Amino acid sequence: KMSVNSNQVITKLISLGVMANINQEIDHDTASIIAEEFGFIVVKHEDEVASEETNEQEMLDFEDKEEDLIERSPVVTVMGHVDHGKTSLLDAIRETKVTEREAGGITQHVGASTVKVNDKRIVFLDTPGHEAFTAMRARGAQVTDVAILVVAADDGVMPQTIEAINHAKAANVPIIVAINKIDKPEANPDRIKQEITEHGLVPEDWGGDTICVPVSALKKQGIDELLEMILLVAEMEELKANPNRRAKGTIIEAELDKGKGPVATVIVQKGTLKVGDAVVTGTAHGKVRAMIDDKGKRIKEAGPSTPVAILGLSEVPDAGEHLYVVESDKKAREIAENRKEKIRMEQLKTTQKVSLDDLFEQI
Ligand code: GTP
Ligand code: MG
Repeated sequence: KMSVNSNQVITKLISLGVMANINQEIDHDTASIIAEEFGFIVVKHEDEVASEETNEQEMLDFEDKEEDLIERSPVVTVMGHVDHGKTSLLDAIRETKVTEREAGGITQHVGASTVKVNDKRIVFLDTPGHEAFTAMRARGAQVTDVAILVVAADDGVMPQTIEAINHAKAANVPIIVAINKIDKPEANPDRIKQEITEHGLVPEDWGGDTICVPVSALKKQGIDELLEMILLVAEMEELKANPNRRAKGTIIEAELDKGKGPVATVIVQKGTLKVGDAVVTGTAHGKVRAMIDDKGKRIKEAGPSTPVAILGLSEVPDAGEHLYVVESDKKAREIAENRKEKIRMEQLKTTQKVSLDDLFEQI
C-alpha cells in the first residue's frame, strides 16, 4: 500500500535494530513506526481493535479455581415503593445492630453499610434501590445477592413495587418480602400476601417459596427475624469468592470531593483490594491512595463483599462500572486511554454520519 519494496522495509527495520526477514511478521507498533519513517500513518483495523478488547476483557475477567473459593458475606439491596419505609428499615437494622461505631473515624459517606449478625456479616446497599439496580443492570453489573422488597401493609403493592419485583426477577436475585408498618391499625398483611401472589411471589405459608417477614421499622419489630431470613437465603445461595487474587469490584456511587478529588464507593467482589493497587474503572485509572470503610475508618485491605470508598482515581467513574486491579499504573492508564480513544472514535463516527446525512439532504 505504501509502494515501498520489501528490501527498503527490511533495511529500515534493521537500521532500527530489528533483524527481520521477508517472511517475518511484525507487530502493530513496529509497523506503525516503520510506516511513519516512510511518511505514512497507520490506523488500526476495527476488527483488530475489537479482538484486542476481547483479549483485554479476558485478561481482566479471569475465573477462579473452585478450590480457591471461600464463603463471602451477602450483599443486600432494599427496594420498594416510595414511602414504604426502605430508609426507616435500614435505620432500624443499623440501630439494632450497629455496635462498633469507631470514635475519631473520618466521617465519610459510603453508600453501603455492614451489619454483624451473630458471627456473620451482611452488607446493605443504601443507594435508592431502583436507581442502583437500573444503573447497574444497564451496565450488566450485578452486585446484589438478595433483594428485600419493602411493602407497606397499609398501602399494598404499588407501581414501584412491581418494578422492583421485575428488576429482581430479571437479575435472578432471590426476593424476601418485608411487610412493613404492621404497627398501623389499618395494616393488613394478608392483603399484601394476596397482592404479591398476583405478581408471582407466593408466600411460604401459602405453599409458595417466597419468604415474608412482617416488620415495623418504626417500632423495630421483626428486625431480627428479617436478618435471620437474609442469612438463611444467603446460605442457600452458597456465596463464595477467592480473596487471594487481584481485586475486581463494582462502583456503587462516585463523586468529586473538593479536597480529596474523585471519591468512589466500590464493593469488592473478588480478590482483595489494597492501598497502593493500580486500578482501572471505565475511563478512570489510578493508584488507590486511601480506603475508608463504612464506619469511616481508614483501612489498608478490603476482601470480597466489602464496601469501601477509595481515593486516587483520575476522574469520577460511573455507578455500575467494574473496577479491576491491574499489574501496574502504566497498564491501568493504557487501558483507560484505550477506552477513551474508543469512545472518541465512536463519537467521531456518529458526527461524521450526521454531517454526511445533512449533506445528502441538502443535495
Ligand atoms: P423513599 O426513600 O422516599 O422512597 O421512602 P422510603 O421507602 O425510604 O420510606 P421512609 O423510610 O422515608 O418512610 C416513609 C414514611 O413512613 C416515614 O414518615 C416513616 O416514618 C414512615 N414509616 C416507615 N416505617 C414505618 C413503620 O414501620 N410504621 C409506621 N407507622 N410508619 C413507618
Ligand atoms: Mg428512602
